[in-house]
Amino acid sequence: MKITFCCTGTKPEPWLAGLRSAFPGAEVTVWEPGAALADHAVVWAPPQQFFDEQTELKGVFNIGAGVDALLKLRLPPQATVVRLDDAGMSVQMAEYVCHAVIRHFREFDGYAADIQAGKWTYRKPLERSEFPVGVMGLGVLGARVAQSVAQFDFPVVGWSRSAKELAGVRCFAGAAQFNDFLASTRILVNLLPLTPETRDIMCLQTLSRLRSGGYVINVARGAHLVDEDLLALLASGHLSGAMLDVFRSEPLPPEHPFWQHPQITITPHTSARTLRDESIAQIAGKIRALEAGQAILGIVDPVRGY
Ligand code: NAP
Ligand code: GLV
Repeated sequence: MKITFCCTGTKPEPWLAGLRSAFPGAEVTVWEPGAALADHAVVWAPPQQFFDEQTELKGVFNIGAGVDALLKLRLPPQATVVRLDDAGMSVQMAEYVCHAVIRHFREFDGYAADIQAGKWTYRKPLERSEFPVGVMGLGVLGARVAQSVAQFDFPVVGWSRSAKELAGVRCFAGAAQFNDFLASTRILVNLLPLTPETRDIMCLQTLSRLRSGGYVINVARGAHLVDEDLLALLASGHLSGAMLDVFRSEPLPPEHPFWQHPQITITPHTSARTLRDESIAQIAGKIRALEAGQAILGIVDPVRGY
């Protein structure tokens, strides 16, 4: 068996070592133009030339959960495209979002500013029931996030394409229930995949439907959010702040207003990192299953876009 590795921005050696130890008899190499045809590919942001040349792939394994960039390319039609299915990401996402929700609700930034100014000030405790958290996307990451936030007794609602039942989460589904979901939400968490249907989904029209004093946590993709609309709603006072991990252009350009905005906290696309060992173990298990003709989780539907 031949496995080719083509991951932009990723140091290949440890991945090659991990894959070689999972498949001692296999040829595992870094792709270069003109390389021999492989059976399986491990990829992140490969060039189109990679797929134009690697025409015999059975499996294409993306070393991230989101496949929006991959699906922009022309892929070999016979290949099964597989994304990371948790692989240690959901616990990281739960940490990030619980941190953001609690930091906002408990006004920790305000306390930090007071302390910085030498002030020992108490704030009146806020009413948890007035801070319902709404999670858009109840997949592998969103479901874990929604249930983790619910552990802190916040009212939690969720929204997905197909109807769901999740303990502790009031679930809405489909376009018909989107406005009801938004109207039930004060802290909005985005964990949708980026697809033609979800691009620009957080815009003036939708964010205006959040409860007054709304807060936005975007941990999915930058193109879900219309930046100017967030800024306008912060200026009008309808929204109170945002914590953003992803941006339309990354790294966030130095002149972008999000860098200095007093109500926006940014992090550099780090809410849920790809963990190498977990990912190699998951991919190796799936290559074995595919080779044995068995079913696997995490297959991407290119028509649906995720
Ligand atoms: P997933 O398991 O595929 O879940 C996607 C969820 O979104 C599903 O619940 C799906 O509904 C829902 N959805 C899709 N299209 C929708 C639509 N048009 N309307 C309503 N709901 C829709 O994906 P995941 O593994 O949880 O990952 C989610 C995203 O997180 C990734 O695509 C990626 O962009 C992002 N991510 C970011 C980071 C980071 O570091 N910032 C790390 C990892 C992932 P159904 O359940 O009905 O299909
Ligand atoms: C990271 O953003 C991922 O999609 O895994």
